[in-house]
Amino acid sequence: MAKDIATRLLAWHKRHGRHDLPWQNTTDPYRVWLSEIMLQQTQVATVIPYYQRFLERFPNLAALAAAPVAEVMSLWSGLGYYARARNLHCCARKIVEQHGGAFPDDPVLIAALPGIGRSTANAIAAFCFDARVPILDGNVKRVLARCFGIEGFPGAAIVEKQMWALAESLLPLRHTALYIQAQMDLGATLCTRSRPRCTDCPLAEICVARQEERQTSLPAPRPKKALPTRERIFLVLLDGPRVLLERRPPSGIWGGLLSLPELPEGAEATSFARRLGVEAAAWEELPALRHTFSHFHLVLRPFKAQATPVLQTREGSGLHWENKSALAGAALPAPIRTLLAMAM
Ligand code: ADE
Repeated sequence: MAKDIATRLLAWHKRHGRHDLPWQNTTDPYRVWLSEIMLQQTQVATVIPYYQRFLERFPNLAALAAAPVAEVMSLWSGLGYYARARNLHCCARKIVEQHGGAFPDDPVLIAALPGIGRSTANAIAAFCFDARVPILDGNVKRVLARCFGIEGFPGAAIVEKQMWALAESLLPLRHTALYIQAQMDLGATLCTRSRPRCTDCPLAEICVARQEERQTSLPAPRPKKALPTRERIFLVLLDGPRVLLERRPPSGIWGGLLSLPELPEGAEATSFARRLGVEAAAWEELPALRHTFSHFHLVLRPFKAQATPVLQTREGSGLHWENKSALAGAALPAPIRTLLAMAM
């Protein structure tokens, strides 16, 4: 059975898999690592331009480790899940400090690095160092849940444990890297979350979900918990062509990114603006924006005013006047970018 699945997948991949993605045809762990991190929760088509720009600026691990974190964040802005970028930078420095700048080749050592889980570590080890280890990302979980009719939410520890054991047992004796890429490609192109193309699937004959027509109910969804909603006021303080931006603290949402000043709860806009060093009045409330994070909904309520700077923005205050023309290249979270597009 295991041999059968691997054989089917490898044969399918040869004809129908993806062979020319920018991070393929290399065994450079820096490139493979970067692509795997960018591809977490993000589609291939979105990742490609970011990946290329990132590599142009940071062609190798040493270049990334030497860069200021703000520049890394800036190249990441728009990709979301910014902890990935902070961890990436932190990881590069760690590899320089602890591994002499060379990526470790043991999947257990790779998984001990910041921001790299077991599946990503195994993918890097398989692609770059020919390790015979399985992966278990969201795509593979979906394929396994369907093919074997595995009940339960794949994110639950007990289901995940079972899936790791299964994934391990299905590994072919050779060609692990190709097999892993085949699994990724099958999940991304045929065995998609909605409307899988079972008629073209090399596993169709043995797939439980297909036999029982349970493709839409497998894998089981995450048990629902209602997300709380937070509402926050963001100030759009304009001085001619400039807008006042504030760097977010390193932890919390949008950690380390530039943003608009957020009105502390209970504070009043005009007196808060004065604390930021500007005189502002005649506030205009703009339409609210909603953005969903993994653990809450955020309603962003923009308040806009013309502002007169009365204090110099101090070094280290995190405050900074940015020209409209420079916003495109600034490290802004996507909803703040949208908000500024509406406001300026
Ligand atoms: N998603 C995660 N890793 C990938 C890869 N190497 N190729 C395509 N999609 C992926």
